[in-house]
Amino acid sequence: EPYMDVAQIRLKKWKRRGCDLPYIWLQYERSLCAVLATGLIVVFPFTGVGCNSVEKKIYVHLNYTVPCVRLLNATHQIGCQSSLSGNVGVLHVLESEDNLDWVLSKGPNPPYLVILEAALFTRSIMMKLKNGSNRVAGVAVVAPNTNPTEPFSPYTTCPNENTGVYTEKYDPAYAHCNVTVWNPLGNGLAYEEFDFPIFSLKDDNDTQVIRQCFLDHNQVVNGSAPQYPLCAMQLYSHMSAVTDTATCMRRNDINFSISPEGVCDPLGDSNVWASSRPINTTQKGHKNSENVIIAAARLDSRSFFFDIAPGAQSSVTGFVSLLAAAHALRNATQEAPPNRTILYTFFQGETFDYIGSSRMVYDMENNQFAVDLDNVHSVLEVGQVGLRSDSQLWLHSDPVSRRNSSVNDEVASKDLNVTVNQPQASQPLPPSSFQRFLRARPIPGIVIEDHQSVFTNRYYESMYDNAEYLNISYPSNLTADEQLEHITETATVPFTLSPPTAEFKFIHLSSEPTFLVQYLLANLTGTVVNVTKEDCQHQREDDKDKESSVPPNGTQRESFCVRSTVHLSKALSPAFDPLKEYTSTEYSTWTESRWKTIKGRIFLVASHELEMLTLGVGVGVLVTSLLLTYLISSKADILFSSGREPTNATY
Ligand SMILES: *[C@@H]1O[C@H](CO)[C@@H](O)[C@H](O)[C@H]1NC(C)=O
Ligand SMILES: *[C@@H]1O[C@H](CO)[C@@H](O)[C@H](O)[C@H]1NC(C)=O
Ligand SMILES: *[C@@H]1O[C@H](CO)[C@@H](O)[C@H](O)[C@H]1NC(C)=O
Ligand SMILES: *[C@@H]1O[C@H](CO)[C@@H](O)[C@H](O)[C@H]1NC(C)=O
Ligand SMILES: *[C@@H]1O[C@H](CO)[C@@H](O)[C@H](O)[C@H]1NC(C)=O
Ligand SMILES: *[C@@H]1O[C@H](CO)[C@@H](O)[C@H](O)[C@H]1NC(C)=O
Ligand SMILES: *[C@@H]1O[C@H](CO)[C@@H](O)[C@H](O)[C@H]1NC(C)=O
Ligand SMILES: *[C@@H]1O[C@H](CO)[C@@H](O)[C@H](O)[C@H]1NC(C)=O
Ligand SMILES: *[C@@H]1O[C@H](CO)[C@@H](O)[C@H](O)[C@H]1NC(C)=O
Ligand SMILES: *[C@@H]1O[C@H](CO)[C@@H](O)[C@H](O)[C@H]1NC(C)=O
Repeated sequence: EPYMDVAQIRLKKWKRRGCDLPYIWLQYERSLCAVLATGLIVVFPFTGVGCNSVEKKIYVHLNYTVPCVRLLNATHQIGCQSSLSGNVGVLHVLESEDNLDWVLSKGPNPPYLVILEAALFTRSIMMKLKNGSNRVAGVAVVAPNTNPTEPFSPYTTCPNENTGVYTEKYDPAYAHCNVTVWNPLGNGLAYEEFDFPIFSLKDDNDTQVIRQCFLDHNQVVNGSAPQYPLCAMQLYSHMSAVTDTATCMRRNDINFSISPEGVCDPLGDSNVWASSRPINTTQKGHKNSENVIIAAARLDSRSFFFDIAPGAQSSVTGFVSLLAAAHALRNATQEAPPNRTILYTFFQGETFDYIGSSRMVYDMENNQFAVDLDNVHSVLEVGQVGLRSDSQLWLHSDPVSRRNSSVNDEVASKDLNVTVNQPQASQPLPPSSFQRFLRARPIPGIVIEDHQSVFTNRYYESMYDNAEYLNISYPSNLTADEQLEHITETATVPFTLSPPTAEFKFIHLSSEPTFLVQYLLANLTGTVVNVTKEDCQHQREDDKDKESSVPPNGTQRESFCVRSTVHLSKALSPAFDPLKEYTSTEYSTWTESRWKTIKGRIFLVASHELEMLTLGVGVGVLVTSLLLTYLISSKADILFSSGREPTNATY
């Protein structure tokens, strides 16, 4: 028997008035379960849980679990969490929405932990579970290995509704997506609050173990309740922050005086930018000589679950196109510099109320950036530009600022030499970083998208907005790693400027593409200089404006030194730094809670009655043994006196 921790106890040899007792050997496991079971097996021989099994056998730990986590803004908390000790529930694999009443009312063993196939992860089912949350311990969603056929977007229908330019003040006719509801497929699940944990599971052996455990123990046969022991699941995703951002930032400050452990962190990252000719970055604020065109794209996306944000169409197509454009324009702008500087900017955190762009505009307004807002001539933004053969490009502009004839002339004169269309003049801008510039002042600008009106993206801000959705195919003889490296034609741009000859690595946008984009931009717009690594780093110290080295490690190639104008700038909402206005309605206030443990496991549970019986017997055994001990020690004289005498007598 594979005992985990075998201890051997040798009991004293008892001698009592000429009556010899034998030596007794006892073996026990340290596991409480086993100790209780040894006592119990005699009393109550029940099958199912073989208590020989050590913990490893009883608990099946789930290897791949992705939680939904808690986020907070000025007024709300969204996302999910478990209790501190994890939520336990009896497994129930939901077959259809009609079966929900087993979980919500009929089933005799609540709370239930509901396993959902991805097709059942709908707003209707999730809201019913949310409303019946006293009988729901948690939800595990089995992520499919291929994209579903149905559209799915857990985002809102009107992205960044309150932090774009279209407010009541700007023009009430356009506020709250009155004219165009951009993401009509959005079900808003990612902005709901659930007071139970929700995990995503990969469809693999783990999931098979779960399904099997359900079939073996929990299946409802002919409507009659399954018998104990039942298969249960426990999910841990306790979140430290509660209520809202102001509350958790206050608690951060209190905690910080005791230990450096906070409860939440503001969402933030870095924007990446580069200019088509060097700009003096030590000199902040207004420069008469500068006249810049901002060419922008966003770097981020999100989905319902933590850290799964492929954002293939929603952001990768845009920033890859902009990288390609920067590269295509490199030689042209170096040979014959245009009279306007092009500022390539890649914004981070746009999903969460335009963190990156609002920060850059704030810095420009407050003379904290290399160029001032007065220096900005116009903005050209690349949004979602689907790379399908049938996709057309549309130039969106802001009807409100175009009422000013000088703005309108600039917008109309944008001659891109590309075949593009313009939507109806009365249509407002889609959600875009450009809106944050317009919010500050009426700057001319356009946003390039692949949709005329509502989004064509069927999986906006969901885990299915991935390479598969873009129909990216790799030569079949490549490994997964090679696929990442593979230079794919799909990533070249739909621009017909001069068709870019360079091709690009397809980037899987995961948590932090910032550095990757920084290095790619340096590679695509900079020039290689022949100096050693030390000199390169040293020069960088001397002259931060010009040097930026390619990662020594990102690819297996030799590293080299590159001279470029690439910089990082803060993408942290001004509400946190420097304003500390945690209830701001002007700037993003999103924070993410901290957590300690994310894990899940399945095991068999005995009925409540059996647990009580176990406890009762345990207490009984304890009391009996205490009595026995008392009895023995009080009679020790009689019991052991005869045993000692012969020992003494030997010597
Ligand atoms: C905070 O988020 C909730 C949920 O999305 C939203 O209803 C609310 O308007 C947001 N509050 C602010 C101040 O943006
Ligand atoms: C999954 O289970 C199958 C059959 O039991 C086995 O062959 C395979 O190696 C397992 N895969 C993993 C990743 O454990
Ligand atoms: C989880 O991973 C461990 C180690 O890789 C493996 O032994 C175990 O079988 C896996 N669990 C399941 C359910 O596949
Ligand atoms: C379910 O009920 C039907 C009809 O009452 C019966 O024929 C069948 O054997 C039952 N199935 C099981 C698994 O008990
Ligand atoms: C950049 O601006 C600073 C401050 O105005 C000035 O001292 C410095 O000489 C300038 N550098 C270059 C290269 O022009
Ligand atoms: C139009 O915009 C320009 C530049 O922003 C501004 O100087 C001008 O006063 C505006 N004209 C009207 C009629 O508002
Ligand atoms: C995806 O690619 C396959 C094979 O290259 C092609 O048959 C299919 O039509 C493509 N689908 C879309 C939506 O472009
Ligand atoms: C960019 O990367 C390619 C491939 O590693 C290299 O050949 C080229 O010299 C690099 N150019 C710059 C400017 O970094
Ligand atoms: C780089 O510089 C070293 C020493 O200065 C020289 O030996 C080498 O040939 C140079 N490499 C290139 C590609 O110019
Ligand atoms: C990349 O860097 C990491 C940490 O610096 C190191 O562990 C890893 O081995 C490096 N990979 C390669 C391919 O050099």
